[in-house]
Amino acid sequence: MATEPTIGELIERRLGRREALRGLAGAGAAVALSGVMSSPASAEGPSTLTFKELTHSLDGTQHVAEGYDMQVLIRWGDPVTAGAPLFDPAKQTAAAQEKQFGYNNDYLGLHPLPAGSKGSDRFLMVVNLEYVNPELMFAGLGAGRDAGFKTTRAQVEIEMAAVGGAVIEIARDGGTWKVVDGSKYARRITATTPMEFSGPAAGHELLKTIADPTGRTVLGTLNNCAGGSTPWGTWLTCEENFDAYFGGDGSKLAQPEMQKRYGVGRPPAYGWYRHVDRFDLTKEPNEPNRFGWVVEIDPYEPGALPVKRTALGRFKHEGCTYALAKDGRVVLYSGDDERSDYVYKFVTARPWSPTDRAANKNLLDEGTLFVARFDDDGKVAWLPLVQGQGPLTAENGFATQGDVAIKTRLAADLLKATPMDRPEDIETNPVNGRVYIVLTNNRDRTVDKVSPSNPRARNEHGHILEMTPSGGDHGAADGTWSIFLLAGKPGHDAGARYHRATSDNGWLSCPDNIAFDSKGRIWIVTDGAPGAAGVADGVYAADTMGFGRALTRLFYQAPTGAEVCGPIFTPDDTTFFLTVQHPGEDSGSTFDKPSTRWPDFKDGMPPRPSVVAITRKNGGPIGS
Ligand code: FEO
Ligand code: CA
Ligand code: CA
Ligand code: CA
Repeated sequence: MATEPTIGELIERRLGRREALRGLAGAGAAVALSGVMSSPASAEGPSTLTFKELTHSLDGTQHVAEGYDMQVLIRWGDPVTAGAPLFDPAKQTAAAQEKQFGYNNDYLGLHPLPAGSKGSDRFLMVVNLEYVNPELMFAGLGAGRDAGFKTTRAQVEIEMAAVGGAVIEIARDGGTWKVVDGSKYARRITATTPMEFSGPAAGHELLKTIADPTGRTVLGTLNNCAGGSTPWGTWLTCEENFDAYFGGDGSKLAQPEMQKRYGVGRPPAYGWYRHVDRFDLTKEPNEPNRFGWVVEIDPYEPGALPVKRTALGRFKHEGCTYALAKDGRVVLYSGDDERSDYVYKFVTARPWSPTDRAANKNLLDEGTLFVARFDDDGKVAWLPLVQGQGPLTAENGFATQGDVAIKTRLAADLLKATPMDRPEDIETNPVNGRVYIVLTNNRDRTVDKVSPSNPRARNEHGHILEMTPSGGDHGAADGTWSIFLLAGKPGHDAGARYHRATSDNGWLSCPDNIAFDSKGRIWIVTDGAPGAAGVADGVYAADTMGFGRALTRLFYQAPTGAEVCGPIFTPDDTTFFLTVQHPGEDSGSTFDKPSTRWPDFKDGMPPRPSVVAITRKNGGPIGS
């Protein structure tokens, strides 16, 4: 039987024995990994963050560090587009829902108004609406996953109108934020919004359905988890666990190997297939192939069709965030959020144009998709997913680049990419230029499969990698990686490693999305805190450089059942926005008897996923 290598052995594999013995000089991340970072002694450690951290706890409401205010900006059911009726959860309709804010807000993006300005007081806020909790949305369905199969057709239509995304205009008014009524930009995107395909897979046989024999148009977007933006101000919304929406008999699907690799044909999470033909695998077997993409939406052009950019590949995209190559080409990083799946980047064929917005319109249709191999010696190699190169041949099922785009996971398998511990957000630090790759957890990793980049078997708490592209150029074919932190409770969870001054409240579990403030400090939100141990999901902040590196501190705590998503700062750092997703999603919790009624706390009103704005009481920058 394989035994798990010790962290010390893995450090040796990462650094080489001589360097490991020499005492970790230079390699910042290895320092965090070893937990021996030196620091001046002080009760709160040497962090540059000034807030007093919260105490780990768990209850029905949200909490933030002393000296900060929280404001609920918009909730499920609040008006978005013209004529939206007042929210009445007992009498909800699909027609009302498609004008109102939807369910389970996730990614947030801020697009300044006027377009191209650097202001900090007026924005288009774009919001992903990932999925639904039928047990908390509708009376009488009971608890848990079974509720999703008891929904009526009318309820399924409400659910389809509650997901996708929203564009709202927001403005700062004195110390608070408000949603601007009657904005011409206000928009809802749903599971039925018409969209088009572009790039190498558009028109592919595997995208054709009875409803769309061209394989070029599609209704809606699903499971929009995290996302990103482009330098020209469009919104990238990412389709993650799309397989959960498809039911019926999946045993006779074409391309069974591909469908299995994507989880299509596993029991679904919702009853949509019982009422809507295209979600029934026996009726529209190619419909699932039309999801799992990155969708580009122009928030400044409310009439423009969203476009599924197939060149970026098809997988369970967590997010899609950009950095610029030195020559101006756009590099988009994206994680595939499944246990033992991969990290990708896409590099556009051409540089973007800062002066001609129209020239960027189809920039994401041409370029090269790469998948990452994290070598044991600390190198990362980006492997091109290009038809005709290496094993990506017709004999292996890749006759065109469209095949590579649709079957990205299978192509990446052939290239022997490194299976990771569930890649979530990937973001570039604006100050040090390093790329942070968040790995949320992976209970499937066995002891014989640990390696320096994924160093723990049954990884329950996740970790964060830090990657430096060669020459500081995001367009480079390689780079180096190291570990920023290993999550879990120090002293309790094997191998948990932070700054040694991290307090009993500062440790975290299951990092998911991250944001950087303009000082380059990392703000980590969690999804999967150990509730049984009385710890809620929350927001943890840390320096990434200097004496306070990886000294995480608890800043915000979510209500019971919720995870935190969508962290983003205004450019002046004076507001930190986040989303509270699935409040009340606890065992036994229902619409009729929810575990919390956050944020309204009114009888009859269920918990409502909401966007929250956090500001400092003195109006200054957050955390400073
Ligand atoms: Fe939808 Fe990866 O969390
Ligand atoms: Ca996420
Ligand atoms: Ca997650
Ligand atoms: Ca999540």
